[in-house]
Amino acid sequence: MTDILDARWPAVDSANPGGADATWWRQAAVYQIYPRSFADSNGDGIGDLPGITAKVPYLRRLGIDAVWLSPFYPSALADGGYDVDDYRDVDPKLGTLQDFDAMVTALHEAGIKLIVDIVPNHTSDRHEWFKAALAAPKGSAERDRYIFRDGLGDNGEQPPADWQSIFGGPAWEPVGDGQWYMHHFATEQPDLNWKNQEVRSDFLKTLRFWSDRGVDGFRVDVAHGCAKELPEVLPSQAELDAMENADGTHPLWDRDEVHEIYAQWREVFNEYDPPRTAVAEAWVPTPQRRHRYASAEGLGQAFNFDLLEADFEADQFREIISSNLGQAKEAGSSTTWVFSNHDVVRHATRYGLPPRGGAGTKQGTDWLLSGGTVPQLDAETGLRRARAATLLMLALPGSAYLYQGEELGLNEVADIPEAERQDPSFFRNPGKDIGRDGCRVPLPWTSAGPSFGFSDTTSHLPQPAWFGDYSVEREDADPTSTLAFYRQALALRGTLQTDEELEWIDAGSTDVLHYRRPNGWESVTNFSTRSRPLPEGEVLAASSPLGDGTLPAETTVWLKR
Ligand code: BGC
Repeated sequence: MTDILDARWPAVDSANPGGADATWWRQAAVYQIYPRSFADSNGDGIGDLPGITAKVPYLRRLGIDAVWLSPFYPSALADGGYDVDDYRDVDPKLGTLQDFDAMVTALHEAGIKLIVDIVPNHTSDRHEWFKAALAAPKGSAERDRYIFRDGLGDNGEQPPADWQSIFGGPAWEPVGDGQWYMHHFATEQPDLNWKNQEVRSDFLKTLRFWSDRGVDGFRVDVAHGCAKELPEVLPSQAELDAMENADGTHPLWDRDEVHEIYAQWREVFNEYDPPRTAVAEAWVPTPQRRHRYASAEGLGQAFNFDLLEADFEADQFREIISSNLGQAKEAGSSTTWVFSNHDVVRHATRYGLPPRGGAGTKQGTDWLLSGGTVPQLDAETGLRRARAATLLMLALPGSAYLYQGEELGLNEVADIPEAERQDPSFFRNPGKDIGRDGCRVPLPWTSAGPSFGFSDTTSHLPQPAWFGDYSVEREDADPTSTLAFYRQALALRGTLQTDEELEWIDAGSTDVLHYRRPNGWESVTNFSTRSRPLPEGEVLAASSPLGDGTLPAETTVWLKR
């Protein structure tokens, strides 16, 4: 293992990690850090930037190529930091700009790139622009940076439309003078008006601000939402829902002119050497629409959530892999793969929940709504499948996005008491949505002690007692742990990654997926619950212990011939 690590990381020029390689992102393994829940350095129960810097050796040993850092900007945390007060500063709860610089230097010295989250669809309601908009009259330049409309009724006392926000509840909020502002997400997240030139130029300034500080790329939040075209008479929510939104003409989502914004951003990215990269979060209806965000004239890459939404099922995986590789090739981009992030139930848990409608139907995360210890969870099956799916994914061409804690095999925490919950989607959907706090519980670094080594004190979201069993300390000492498995797989991936080609091999069984990369590296996954014959070859890695000459149920193996 040491040899592999040493071969992979020659001495790094910290001013220019990765040299001028402009394609580093195409097949990178990117690890998402949700900073408030990663590591706390100052004992206030909230993770911070010095906490990340202190864990750079851990990240290096894990074997990732880049970190994607979720928002660390000043924020009241109405939506976990996606409500940004100031795009060009660090939240004092998380550190300072100097701490940011120190973190960048430490990551770069370890050969790790940094992608930061940028949130262009909305600011927070504490942003100076929004405060100015509230203080200014109707029709003012200050209000033009946001989406204001007159309310209906004699005095504008009714909302301009019955639109629902993504987090539940109304999407229009009154400001007391007959006008209302629009927010796709929480009330504290007013949507920006991207027709406003000042909004456009200020974001270019922000992109340069962070690029000049050494940031290597950006993850663009809600990239498909920025361009809007609101007609004089607003449609109802039912009319909006009925509109076809695969042709770029929906008033709110995935409009064609959104790409003008990103073409301007691309010009800024290309001012740097190597050019800054970007990945779009764009929930759009077709891969064709998605790849418009991934064009070389635009953001360059877009998230593909198809595997995240799939069942653990061979046919679904094969179809998703083939179509996404084909589409990405056409767009001149590389695809992305992801199973877990800060918005979804962790995949070790998803795969261990009973199907919603009985055998053969989708895994139902609504089981989690029952809370408690999630008696329905079959943790062993969930983890076995999660490891198999991850190993399959790590051999694919394209970028692999990993979410903090999945390398420990962590499960979702379902039983956070209501009083300690933070996610607005929980509060805006009582009884219907458990919210996203369960995947954002601070990491367990040690097996015991206050907040399992995350902080010197209680963590900002409560950790369950079983977190200690998944701690870094415990897994570090166990060669069969999920952490050891991720380290081994990532180290191998770094040495095996090659041309972005994949060839399917007929496995002679519909529930086995077998593919080969151009250098002879093969991945075989048995999706069934019975063991299958193990193809010939040198075994490089396996997601579960192998039987004698067989590929166990729900297991992936990497082979080299
Ligand atoms: C982020 C979410 C966030 C939302 C609003 C997303 O897609 O991933 O965490 O709540 O955008 O910013």
